[in-house]
Amino acid sequence: MAFVAVSGLNKYYNATGKRLHVLRDLDLSVEQGEMVAIMGASGVGKSTLLHVLGGLDTIDGGQVRVGDHEIASLTDEARVRFRNRHIGFVFQFHHLLPEFSAVENAMMPLRIARASAAEARPKAEALLVRVGLGDRLDHRPGTLSGGEQQRVAVSRALVMQPSLLLADEPTGDLDEATADALHDLLRSMHRDIGLTAIIATHNPRLAAQCDRTLRLEGGQLTAAG
Ligand SMILES: Nc1ncnc2c1ncn2[C@@H]1O[C@H](COP(=O)(O)OP(=O)(O)O)[C@@H](O)[C@H]1O
Ligand SMILES: [Mg+2]
Repeated sequence: MAFVAVSGLNKYYNATGKRLHVLRDLDLSVEQGEMVAIMGASGVGKSTLLHVLGGLDTIDGGQVRVGDHEIASLTDEARVRFRNRHIGFVFQFHHLLPEFSAVENAMMPLRIARASAAEARPKAEALLVRVGLGDRLDHRPGTLSGGEQQRVAVSRALVMQPSLLLADEPTGDLDEATADALHDLLRSMHRDIGLTAIIATHNPRLAAQCDRTLRLEGGQLTAAG
């Protein structure tokens, strides 16, 4: 049984009186431990799909299952809990909190889940060491480079040991060398902890490091050559 199973997914947006049909009877199946890239032109709905998978957005039809969770049937409260427990998000812009240090940012999901600081800090520190930021633990985001900030964001996304990592153009704002380093990091974490990951990207080098690449076009996914 696939870990992520999407069938007949439809998603509309209503913008200024016009109905925009973004995802059209979309199907997607991702196995546990698979790392899948989603490519496609700007505006085709990659972010929308990731948001739906992560319980950040509602749907207008179809089935979306992640693990044992049928996303559309969750109450708002259950959806928030699902997201916190099971999903790690990495965005193009890291959305770190500027007033908090690297380790405090990376601990944040655990603190939101009511873990004590004593429990949360060592887990966040271990991840930051893992991504090569062991000597930047107390730096605020403003005193880190773009690549370092994104590595803090990856640590934050993984600190809850999510079952699914969703990354939305994670290297879109980085120079090529830094982007490559982040790819290597994602790939090795995928290998080490068997993470299931779905990564929207414009970057063919990142896509090439995934197990499989899908193309989103016309509201549907197809295998990319
Ligand atoms: N909240 C919204 N309201 C109306 N239209 C939206 C909204 N969010 C996204 N869209 C539109 O839906 C389409 C898909 O957007 P998005 O998923 O962000 O694409 P991508 O991530 O592939 O660039 C775009 O045409 C965008 O303008
Ligand atoms: Mg997008």
